[in-house]
Amino acid sequence: MRNKIVAGNWKMNGSLALNEALLKGVVSGTAGLEGVTCVVCSPFPYLFQLQGELSGTHVFSGAQNLSQYDKGAYTGEVSASMLRDFGLTYVIIGHSERRAIFGETSVTVAEKFKAAVDAGLVPILCVGESLAEREAGITEKVVGEQLDAVTGYVGAEALAHSVIAYEPVWAIGTGRTATPEQAQEVHAFLRNRIASLNAEVAAKISILYGGSVKASNAEELFAMPDIDGGLIGGASLVSGEFNEICRAAAR
Ligand code: PGA
Repeated sequence: MRNKIVAGNWKMNGSLALNEALLKGVVSGTAGLEGVTCVVCSPFPYLFQLQGELSGTHVFSGAQNLSQYDKGAYTGEVSASMLRDFGLTYVIIGHSERRAIFGETSVTVAEKFKAAVDAGLVPILCVGESLAEREAGITEKVVGEQLDAVTGYVGAEALAHSVIAYEPVWAIGTGRTATPEQAQEVHAFLRNRIASLNAEVAAKISILYGGSVKASNAEELFAMPDIDGGLIGGASLVSGEFNEICRAAAR
């Protein structure tokens, strides 16, 4: 049995007051759920608040990005060791918004992945194709290359302590979810690709689906054999919705 994980990606949303209510709602609403790991990834300034609200509970804290550098003259950056120092567990790496808007390349993503693993954090590595790439029939080529960039740099064994999130770009924030079959196909492809390097790691790694996951579609997605939970954007900002998604993974 693989770990089921539901991770909330708040993106650049939140305020002290809103977060407090949201976090309290998630902690109480997911209490006692078995067989699912619940994670909340907030913007950097709110990590301190996350720690306050979540430490000692069953909900894990995570960040949405980190620097590939360890320390020094990198104005505006946050290192893996700082996040670790802070007691964080998870960090999202290579989200498509970071690749598309902030110019992160596959090389940067691989370096960030390594920085996270070296610091003892669990990276949630995001891969996914654009609509044009899907329509051109090159989804597997695109996600395969995104995965290879990381395994080529750190080795497949380093994936043992990581999570993968398949997030088709056309499904993120659009309300257009991949069908369970479309997602399963890519998840199986990713798992096979990892298996060609290390079968044991492939069997154990959790591969999450992300892209317009909601309480109403989570169960059918999570029922697929290679979908081990979700990375949740918009729906993670509403505790009732997020809690329902966690419940769907726990079933
Ligand atoms: P969404 O975002 O659930 O709002 O589509 C998912 C993500 O970008 O991680």
